[in-house]
Amino acid sequence: MIYVNNFKEMHLDDRETHVWFAQAALELNSSTMQDKLFFLDSDELHKYNRYKFPQKRSEYLLGRVFLKKVLSQYLNISPENIKIQYSANGKPVLGSESDSIDLQFNLSHSNFGFACAVTLGNPVGIDIEYVIPVEQKHINHYLAPEEIAYLSDVPPAERLKNLFQIWTLKEAFLKANDLFETISPNDFYFIFEPTDIKIHTKKTPFPENWKFYFIMPADNFSLALAVQTDYKTKHDVKYYCCDFNFF
Ligand SMILES: CC(C)(COP(=O)(O)OP(=O)(O)OC[C@H]1O[C@@H](n2cnc3c(N)ncnc32)[C@H](O)[C@@H]1OP(=O)(O)O)[C@@H](O)C(=O)NCCC(=O)NCCS
Repeated sequence: MIYVNNFKEMHLDDRETHVWFAQAALELNSSTMQDKLFFLDSDELHKYNRYKFPQKRSEYLLGRVFLKKVLSQYLNISPENIKIQYSANGKPVLGSESDSIDLQFNLSHSNFGFACAVTLGNPVGIDIEYVIPVEQKHINHYLAPEEIAYLSDVPPAERLKNLFQIWTLKEAFLKANDLFETISPNDFYFIFEPTDIKIHTKKTPFPENWKFYFIMPADNFSLALAVQTDYKTKHDVKYYCCDFNFF
């Protein structure tokens, strides 16, 4: 993890992914939040105002501030001028006027932890979840039989961490592909090898050439990354943690 304490111009090549992580205080006063509204365009402001719960509204706003500040380091554009658009299935992408270098990205947030992945031309998905006790029986229908069998062999003390690992990997993969409509979470499963995470499926056709990564960037946060790359070339992931007042 590389700790970052100021902004700079960032460079990427197509054999690497940059993952950014930041945490915000849970209690942010409303004037602090109001001061950040200029980062949102009119569609984002509309969505912001539709959130019923203040905590969700703040997390959405901070997510967009985080995303735009991260992206602005790769694009020669100030954060508030970055335009986010959407694919046909709702995946956020850069507006053509903002995208001079085919930057691909994905954002995730949970309990005021924020994660963003950035690549040059490689489809990418990221998921962060704050780990809370959950009963596996409530999410078994998302899991493949192989994953249920795998979890039953894991010692009980490790099971929650492993469950969140599988969960975040599934979300990251589905988000990368924009596949929520066509592939069910239980159509595929992961095999955990000592230095690699592999995906398996019986479904065809199925997207190929994926690399998967999992870390816990802070206490109780699970973070998974899925990136589509040419399998023959080495792919590097650099993790950046914003340990200053990012927001
Ligand atoms: C819409 C969805 C991306 C929300 O996921 P989530 O875990 O609640 O939230 P995350 O914080 O990880 O992701 C939200 C961010 O993903 C991005 N996003 C939204 N739609 C997306 C899509 N179709 N594809 C990729 N990214 C998307 C957005 O940036 C969004 O944040 P924002 O609206 O604040 O900008 C998606 O996960 C979903 O609906 N999943 C269905 C649940 C499911 O079937 N889960 C299977 C478990 S494996």
